[in-house]
Amino acid sequence: MYIKQYENILLDIAEEYGTPVYVYFAEILLNNFNKIKTIAKKYYRKILIAYAYKANSNIHLCKLLHREGAGAEVVSSGELFLALKASASKIVFDGVSKSVSEIEYAVRNRVWLINIENLGELKYIDYFSEKNNIVQKVGIRFNPGIEVSTHKHIATGGKLNKFGLDSKNFIRAVSISKKMKNIDLCAVHFHLGSQIFDTESYIKALERVLSLAEEAGLNIRIIDIGGGFGYSYETGETMNLDNLFAQISRVLKDSLGEEPTVVLEPGRAIVASAGILLTKVNYIKEVYGKKWVLVDAGMNDFIRPALYGAKHKITVLGKNGPTEKYSIGGPVCESADVFAEDMELPRVAPGDVLAVHDVGAYSYSMSSNYNTRPRPPEVLVDRKEIKLIRRRENFEDLLRLMIT
Ligand SMILES: Cc1ncc(COP(=O)(O)O)c(C=O)c1O
Repeated sequence: MYIKQYENILLDIAEEYGTPVYVYFAEILLNNFNKIKTIAKKYYRKILIAYAYKANSNIHLCKLLHREGAGAEVVSSGELFLALKASASKIVFDGVSKSVSEIEYAVRNRVWLINIENLGELKYIDYFSEKNNIVQKVGIRFNPGIEVSTHKHIATGGKLNKFGLDSKNFIRAVSISKKMKNIDLCAVHFHLGSQIFDTESYIKALERVLSLAEEAGLNIRIIDIGGGFGYSYETGETMNLDNLFAQISRVLKDSLGEEPTVVLEPGRAIVASAGILLTKVNYIKEVYGKKWVLVDAGMNDFIRPALYGAKHKITVLGKNGPTEKYSIGGPVCESADVFAEDMELPRVAPGDVLAVHDVGAYSYSMSSNYNTRPRPPEVLVDRKEIKLIRRRENFEDLLRLMIT
């Protein structure tokens, strides 16, 4: 996102709420969502955009998206709890290892769709559905066994991944479900991973799952193609969704008699560019000729560079002019606690505020208390209003769950 226009607001927020602090922009969030919705509506009559809570589950952001028509994609009873609190109208419950109590909670709360990844889930869903006197819509997550070009930690549709069911078990799941009174097996699902930019992987997976469903005698009413729509942290562009949705629509028209409901589960493409992390410079030093900027945010606050080697644009608020090469490190006692290496920045001084861009997704949601560091606050900028939407953790919070 281009933040020059927001610099003064960001400096005020850093002053008022301290650093590190996450800042989100409602306008960018909703623009991203509505862009996806507009393109999807060109190609599908029945559509659900189920926002992936794992990307960022702050309830204020989720509510804004639900008000705009988004459903929720959740993968734990914690996310489900939040989606219910946020009044999500349609909830898709995914997850590779759902516990029995999570399935019970999902069925009891009438989630719209449960996508299974294990044959064993079927008997629990059937049992709790009968107890609650409902027939539960169920989908099967298919693992298409294809390699997608992305970071290995975020690829999920390959033969070596734990996710989904392979062809043999997909067919078994269809035949088991047919014998269950309280299961309405009506959906197929796949999610190939995150940061995917090529349309072919989706089409390959779609064609495989459609032919498998036909072989198994499964009548598909819902097709859930997951999320994973790539967002370039370099250019700020999202993958070509027009092309992707057009091609998917063509395959569906060629293969299915009746038009299914299409479910999308984007997370990053909606929320990544809506967030900024502000962090203050504590010190500058040189270690064997390498210039380090040491900031007050660490990998516990923002783990993407350490975990995935993610590269985010970083700027110095209110500064231009001659640049120097700096590496940017945090206070955590790990060599991986580095946000950038040899980055050109305007000359930095202690007290400057750095803005780490595009941290709306998989950033706060992956934060921790490592090194016993309280987590930062979150602030929402919604038109002229600046609102604290999660306070900074304090020392008491660090003790809260310990039995003392
Ligand atoms: C099942 C499922 N759906 C959707 C998503 C969202 O992916 P992304 O944020 O890349 O769109 C994920 C991410 O891991 C996922 O596992």
